[in-house]
Amino acid sequence: MTLCDASIDFETADFRICEDLSDVREAVEQRLEMLVGTLPGVPLNLQQAVRHALLGKSKRVRPVLLYLIAEPSPRQRLCALDLGCAVEMVHTASLILDDLPCMDDAQIRRQRPTTHIAFGQSTAILAAIGLLTRAFGIVAELDEVPEPTRVRLAALLSDAVGWDGLVAGQEIDVNGRQQLKNADQIEELNWLKTGVLFVAAAEMGAVLGGLEDKRLDAVRRFARHLGVAFQTADDLLDQDASTSEAGKDVHKDGDKATLVSLFGASQARMSCQEHLSNAESALAESGVTPAPILELMQRLFATRKAAAQ
Ligand code: IPE
Ligand code: IPE
Ligand code: MG
Ligand code: MG
Ligand code: MG
Repeated sequence: MTLCDASIDFETADFRICEDLSDVREAVEQRLEMLVGTLPGVPLNLQQAVRHALLGKSKRVRPVLLYLIAEPSPRQRLCALDLGCAVEMVHTASLILDDLPCMDDAQIRRQRPTTHIAFGQSTAILAAIGLLTRAFGIVAELDEVPEPTRVRLAALLSDAVGWDGLVAGQEIDVNGRQQLKNADQIEELNWLKTGVLFVAAAEMGAVLGGLEDKRLDAVRRFARHLGVAFQTADDLLDQDASTSEAGKDVHKDGDKATLVSLFGASQARMSCQEHLSNAESALAESGVTPAPILELMQRLFATRKAAAQ
């Protein structure tokens, strides 16, 4: 079966028809499990590390967002899920690396020991490289998507994660924080390390859904504001939540330059609110069905706000 086989019976396939937010998230979960279920030729220890990192308790916000923006027809549903899973693999790879002792030196991730704690640093790094590489394989194998579109999708993902995108953000985060002095510089960092992958997910959904340029631009603006707000909310979480609430280490950012550490929690909350309201306006302009996306945002930020106050 190819990843996008139109002959699949969507009623009986091993994932649900997605009707609401929980269904989409559950479908992503099931599809991820299938994609890393049996991995012939992959050493057992590495398989276990990949599954450990990928299948921990996650919000799955990027694949769900991609799916909701794509508004896929029944024939496109599996493609939308697989594109989301590819983005999720890239995201998970970034988390494995972010947690390493040479980066944030974290012990807990997705309510589990971090991958390097559970499997050792060498296997963790290889698992991250494996996930990153497989993500592009998944995009390349979407036979139902016309080849030029597939190429465009792969380029979008590569641009987001590459050395002038997420990788640049992580480099500045780890080695260039001392130079960050004002809010604009911090927001630029938040854009790079987190916003770019939100925009990639949203734009990939929009491309799969065939949105024309003007609507695509609104989708990009929406996701940029959402992604930057998401990172600020995460920085608030670091300050105010417990490890069990966050499912990961907290109080790691005290000596880092974030909106929270430089300007205080209430300024950070205001910035977050402003980005969320700009995101909502851009979403309205995009013409994408807003209700499920607004619900996603509400769940995401209500939880964070509760944890952060
Ligand atoms: C964590 O991302 C890293 C940030 C960009 C803040 P998520 O908060 O989406 O992590 P998971 O996927 O739910 O574990
Ligand atoms: C990480 O930001 C963003 C990426 C992984 C690219 P953080 O370092 O704040 O994320 P958490 O808090 O560890 O999830
Ligand atoms: Mg980090
Ligand atoms: Mg971190
Ligand atoms: Mg954080």
